[in-house]
Amino acid sequence: MRLEDHYLFQRDIEHDYPVAVRGEGVWVWDKDGKKYLDACAGANVTGIGHGVKEIGTAMASQANDIAYVPPQHFLVEPSLKLAEKLISMAPDGFSRVMLLSGGSEAVENAFKIARQYHVLSGNSSKYRVVSRWQGFHGNTLTADAVGGHTMRRSIYTPMLMSVPHIVPACCYRCAFGFRYPGCNIECAKELERVVIQEGPEYIAAFIAETIVGAAAAAVNPVPEYYPIIREICDKYSILWIADEVMTGVGRTGKFLAIEHWGVTPDLVVLAKGLSSGYAPLAAILIHDRVFRAFRETKSPFIGGHTYNAHPVTASAGLAVLNYLEKHRLIEGVKEKGPLLRRGLESVDSKEPMIGDVRGRGLMWGLEFVKDKKTKEPFNQELKLSFHVMHKAMEKGLIIYPVSGCADGRSGDGALICPPLIINKEEIDVIVQKLEETISETRREIGGLL
Ligand SMILES: Cc1ncc(COP(=O)(O)O)c(C=O)c1O
Repeated sequence: MRLEDHYLFQRDIEHDYPVAVRGEGVWVWDKDGKKYLDACAGANVTGIGHGVKEIGTAMASQANDIAYVPPQHFLVEPSLKLAEKLISMAPDGFSRVMLLSGGSEAVENAFKIARQYHVLSGNSSKYRVVSRWQGFHGNTLTADAVGGHTMRRSIYTPMLMSVPHIVPACCYRCAFGFRYPGCNIECAKELERVVIQEGPEYIAAFIAETIVGAAAAAVNPVPEYYPIIREICDKYSILWIADEVMTGVGRTGKFLAIEHWGVTPDLVVLAKGLSSGYAPLAAILIHDRVFRAFRETKSPFIGGHTYNAHPVTASAGLAVLNYLEKHRLIEGVKEKGPLLRRGLESVDSKEPMIGDVRGRGLMWGLEFVKDKKTKEPFNQELKLSFHVMHKAMEKGLIIYPVSGCADGRSGDGALICPPLIINKEEIDVIVQKLEETISETRREIGGLL
């Protein structure tokens, strides 16, 4: 729909958006009857797929019983049950859950919990957060400040709090020019250098996306990376916040992606897949070593939102987790992930524009380059990732555009992360449409280079 035909303030005011009217499984239909395969689950959101009636039924039933009560006055059953379910699915040690409405809001609250934890523990000089370049944590001002996506944050720079960033954990573009495994995992060790330089007495938390999504197309750190991060955080009494907004709730074949590294963060942020997009829902998993500071001092959390633990959204989250379990969708990722990976690697083997295929489970990223050998990115003015996305939409394929993955400004890619219910035939459709999309885009942009 064109700008002049509606009143919404959409992100891209030039773009002629189709109007979606129905979804079923991995498929979405627009108003004109065109069918799209949702190959990015709307950026890792719709894990259980579209149109699952029992989620709507659970929400309607809760809305009919009671849609809202203020969280400062009441608890409600669906949020109590959702918290219990989350604790049962999370790794050992987490003992509390805060329920919120979106990823950015949850990221902000994780910082507040970290700050208050340190104050309650007698370390009141600790307030700063360290993060990573080419990471993304949301679009509120604090999330922008910790975000490492230069293009998204630069216009707001005068309004952002100061946050030290460390280099990305990306082997394809190692900031030190090293090659794994002979790299001494310097990208993780940089955290210690930055902490010492900035003053450990000020550093409250380190935040990182376990596998980087929107800002870097599924950058998946090496096995040694997070154990080193854990050690550094312990050494300097820093809380480690794992942003699992994209990777949590089964996307990589485990409930949390961080379980692949065998270490446990202090706080985990979940959103997107938690309600599979059926309602705006996010959560913070709080490790008992953090919660203990609140319990022992009997301190209330200083914060809160109107829609904390909202009954209808909590009922959506609970129904989604039950659905995931009933259909063994997290276990299924172990078989489906390699199928998708092999398909993408076959496209890569034929396509000169793909520089890297990376990821884990059902979260894969492609990075596009001008030259496979030199890894030279395309000129950012070209907005290549959006060309690829629009071409894919023409062909009835929805993929997520990634830009800035080389250095925060240049570097284009795409995220391929379909709903967890995807089957082999549908994976084949993704691979075939993607191959056509990329080769046609390459031929079309040839004239612009
Ligand atoms: C890793 C990560 N963290 C946080 C957010 C922010 O979530 P929301 O858009 O729900 O505020 C996003 C959104 O894409 C994300 O990918």
